[in-house]
Amino acid sequence: MYKILMTYSNIEGLDLLFSSKEFKIDVHNKPSPEEFKRLIKDYDGLLIRSEVKVTAEIIEVADRLKFIGRAGTGVDNVDKTVATKKGIVIANVPGGNTISAVEHTIGLMLSLARNIPEAYRSLKDKKWDRKNFVGTELFRKTLGLIGLGRIGTEVAKRMSAFGMKVIAYDPFIDSDFAKNNGVEIKSIDEVYREADYISIHSPLNDSTRGMINTGAIEKMKDGVRIINCSRGPIINEKDLCCAVKSGKVKGAALDVFVKEPPEDWTIIEMENVIVTPHLAASTKEAQIRIAQEMSEVIVDFFTKNIIRNAINVS
Ligand code: MLT
Repeated sequence: MYKILMTYSNIEGLDLLFSSKEFKIDVHNKPSPEEFKRLIKDYDGLLIRSEVKVTAEIIEVADRLKFIGRAGTGVDNVDKTVATKKGIVIANVPGGNTISAVEHTIGLMLSLARNIPEAYRSLKDKKWDRKNFVGTELFRKTLGLIGLGRIGTEVAKRMSAFGMKVIAYDPFIDSDFAKNNGVEIKSIDEVYREADYISIHSPLNDSTRGMINTGAIEKMKDGVRIINCSRGPIINEKDLCCAVKSGKVKGAALDVFVKEPPEDWTIIEMENVIVTPHLAASTKEAQIRIAQEMSEVIVDFFTKNIIRNAINVS
């Protein structure tokens, strides 16, 4: 019997795993680091979302652990180096929440352009104010994407249909692929210089951490709007606060934060900053899709020796 530790409570879509006799699944919702360290020793597999951090300290004591399943896309919450050294396979479900993330990004972009959250709040406060919420059209504006992977590409397709000019910075994508999706590949400085809206769709790694800082923002157009549905630490929140305060950045829409839940609420409380609590992937459809695929990946790994979706095995 394989023992799987699951660190979140929504079991919807995991029927294959839960009904399989070869597995015993224990749910411990968001364990503290100490609890996690104590629990992990007994398990062959770990099933996580983004809320827990699988640090080197935890992996080092996980002597039975052979598999970490990330029910989602980003694996920045797992210490890959230590896991790989211990021979632990890390697998994710890329793509399962792409459309959800894309639609949330577009929702935030429209909200920024048309002041929807502010107008909503004002009317709920029984104020009939049409003067203060005059918006701008997306039509004929330039959207600069940082990252043209699955999510960036789908955002590009949809925003082209809005009549936006879409440009992107992505060092790993060739310009023919971009062109076929209606996108022009540019250098990062060109994206900063030309975009009216900048939307971030990159993974968090050493080269993206803190990349949206004062230096980068200074290169952007005055009045640029920034959307982030990828990972919070890609933006230096303090630098963004200053840029919003000065008006250099006209508005920002953030679904992700440096610390989640946040410890410093300054950026969240700012005017002209729209926020949601890491909801981009949170749709019924995405969660079920991911859970079903992850169930198959786990069952195949343990019972058929088939490694699928691994990010640390070539
Ligand atoms: C992902 O990486 O899959 C999304 O950000 C959702 C999540 O982390 O829970």
